[in-house]
Amino acid sequence: MSANTNAQIRWKFLSQSLRARKRCSNPADATACQISARNFCGFDLLRKTKETINGDEWMKIAVPHRGSVQSRPNSLALPEVNGHSGCQTDDSPPEKQLYLKCSPAMTTSDIFGFDNTGNICIWPAEEILAFYCLLHWEEFSGARICELGGGMTCLAANMVAATSETSHVILTDGNAKCVQNCEEIVKRNKSLGLYSAENICVRCLRWDALEDYQDLMHSVDLVIAADCIFVEKFHQALVRCIYDLLNDKGYALLFSPRRGTALQSFIQAASSEFIVQVMEKYDDMVSDRHRLYCNTNNTYIPDLHYPLLIKLHKTTASP
Ligand SMILES: C[S@@+](CC[C@H](N)C(=O)[O-])C[C@H]1O[C@@H](n2cnc3c(N)ncnc32)[C@H](O)[C@@H]1O
Repeated sequence: MSANTNAQIRWKFLSQSLRARKRCSNPADATACQISARNFCGFDLLRKTKETINGDEWMKIAVPHRGSVQSRPNSLALPEVNGHSGCQTDDSPPEKQLYLKCSPAMTTSDIFGFDNTGNICIWPAEEILAFYCLLHWEEFSGARICELGGGMTCLAANMVAATSETSHVILTDGNAKCVQNCEEIVKRNKSLGLYSAENICVRCLRWDALEDYQDLMHSVDLVIAADCIFVEKFHQALVRCIYDLLNDKGYALLFSPRRGTALQSFIQAASSEFIVQVMEKYDDMVSDRHRLYCNTNNTYIPDLHYPLLIKLHKTTASP
């Protein structure tokens, strides 16, 4: 595929998002829509508020107390949906707030440079990955976790670092602006003492550049990624990178919408190295909202917005 064609794919992706930003006019959704510049504003699984700090727009995400997540997985502090709220009780300890800086300015050269889709918004798959990590925080205790293609916030990796006693959380993206934004996010949250992870770091990691991750070879217990398979040209590199990062017992959790034939083609590529499990239903609350949006929200396009869960386990030990 030529560089020109890749730029065209990304431009289509970006221009759809920019057009969607104009149509997203419900004042009640203003915060989510500015941050998630698309027609469909996400699954509303995390409670968000906005704060301006030194002229920059930050989003604050409520991090439910661990006990409440563990004992009542369907009772996370969620916004109301159809009059039904799953809020914490009054005696719950105060929630922590995860700070995410949201709007790196873009120039035309950004659009034609390295993939910039991560600088547009937090995509629905990232929100679902973060939500899934919240529900499963106990699984990550002591683990070394790496998020690939985390975009401008690496929301899911940040959520893991805020809620789990992991040994390492490594936030990555191949886009320098995303990496710079994530560095600011980690600096702020570290200064606020938000993380329970022992070590958290941010780095530029391109899936097709072995030198970006050679020092991490076979050292990671869990790779996570959201909405990273839409450019088929990178499927082989992404599969290779996940394989190289994981230790023999490691596994990967990816969330991605189907996006036409992209998911199917990724599954095919991944099957050469991994046992691949694909799940359409992985959480009752997400399934409920999916059904609700299918019936009531004409901006919701499951092929673009409903993420499937893809689990990858190694079929053979690393050489
Ligand atoms: C659609 S965005 C998803 C961002 C984020 N995970 C989310 O769902 O909000 C795809 C991300 O993958 C990153 N990416 C694309 N190709 C890459 C590559 N070859 N190496 C590393 N990152 C890449 C982009 O920079 C972008 O942040």
